[in-house]
Amino acid sequence: MTISTVGVVGAGLMGSGIAQAAAMAGHDVLIHDSNGAQWNSARGAIEGSLAKLVEKGKLTVEALTETRARITFVPDLAAFAACDLVIEAIVESLEPKRALWRQLEGICRADTLFATNTSSLSVGDQAVGLAHPERLLGMHFFNPVPMMPLVEVIRSIRTSADAVDAGLAFARGLGKTAITSRDESGFVVNLLLVPYLIDAVRALERGVGTIADLDAAMKLGAGHPMGPFTLLDFVGLDTVVKIGDIMFDQYRETRYAPPPLLRRMVAAGYLGKKNGKGFYDWRGAQPVPMELGL
Ligand code: CAA
Ligand code: NAD
Repeated sequence: MTISTVGVVGAGLMGSGIAQAAAMAGHDVLIHDSNGAQWNSARGAIEGSLAKLVEKGKLTVEALTETRARITFVPDLAAFAACDLVIEAIVESLEPKRALWRQLEGICRADTLFATNTSSLSVGDQAVGLAHPERLLGMHFFNPVPMMPLVEVIRSIRTSADAVDAGLAFARGLGKTAITSRDESGFVVNLLLVPYLIDAVRALERGVGTIADLDAAMKLGAGHPMGPFTLLDFVGLDTVVKIGDIMFDQYRETRYAPPPLLRRMVAAGYLGKKNGKGFYDWRGAQPVPMELGL
């Protein structure tokens, strides 16, 4: 199966990174978001990342220009009729994802591959009601997509072996290492990472240390590239709460349950780096730990 045109739905943190990675690998990319205004911040993120790669000598100016020209924002999903592969990166919630796949079945060819970038939802559950559930697989990218070399490829009960092979080949074509995972909530990485992030919030609630000290501890004492609170802000606190709720619902283990502080922060509009406020205040030149009234 040849994949030339790729559609990306959701132009947030992940959708913009996936669009960039696909365009850098030579694919024509159509990107859509239900919030048209999101395109401005997605374009800003893509431009910033491409500029960084040029500055580091990892991308030529010509390649930057070509990559930029391959990405088209489309206000109407009908344009996705041209896609060989559609990757969704919309909100982490089952019903909107199911509704999107049903809508896309009415637009795309019967052999267009569908891939969900879900962090924690079952791929099989998303295929309920589809005429061609065998073409839906999981393709789980990591944030920031241009920098993170892994893609988890997930086969649901109903995904075909051909679809999995095409997903693996596509991910490798982007220069990523692809592994396969069973369709279990959280797959490999989030199964292990989400309890760690949640434990960090619990440690903060208990007063074990400050945000800055807990982050420094995991960087300097455990060799992590960033501490848990910086990473929580990178992922997005709203997304972490959704992922935790879904994993808790699946496994009924408190290790996945979002702590009260995390919920209170999301309710207060602290979503992380994407809106400038999370465990850190990102609006200045350097991130500053937030005063959370603890
Ligand atoms: N685009 C292009 N280049 C980028 C970039 C981007 N978005 N972000 C960073 N870079 C480049 C920098 O220019 C720099 O280049 P050089 O090494 O050539 O100097 C390099 O990447 C390192 O950047 P920094 O020094 O600024 O920062 P860093 O050393 O902290 O690296 C990082 C950045 C790769 C993000 C690193 O901090 C890291 O790996 N952090 C952990 C990220 C992580 O765990 N992600 C997974 C989240 S979980 C998830 O995604 C799954 C889910 O479902 C929730
Ligand atoms: P985000 O909040 O940054 O972006 C989501 C975007 O989807 C928003 O721009 C929103 O307007 C748009 N959207 C919502 N519903 C839509 C719909 N029905 N149609 C079109 N657009 C719609 O979220 P994100 O962090 O990019 O996460 C997106 C998906 O990727 C989620 O499933 C998440 O679990 C997964 N994911 C996130 C990360 C991460 O680190 N943030 C990593 C891997 C996977």
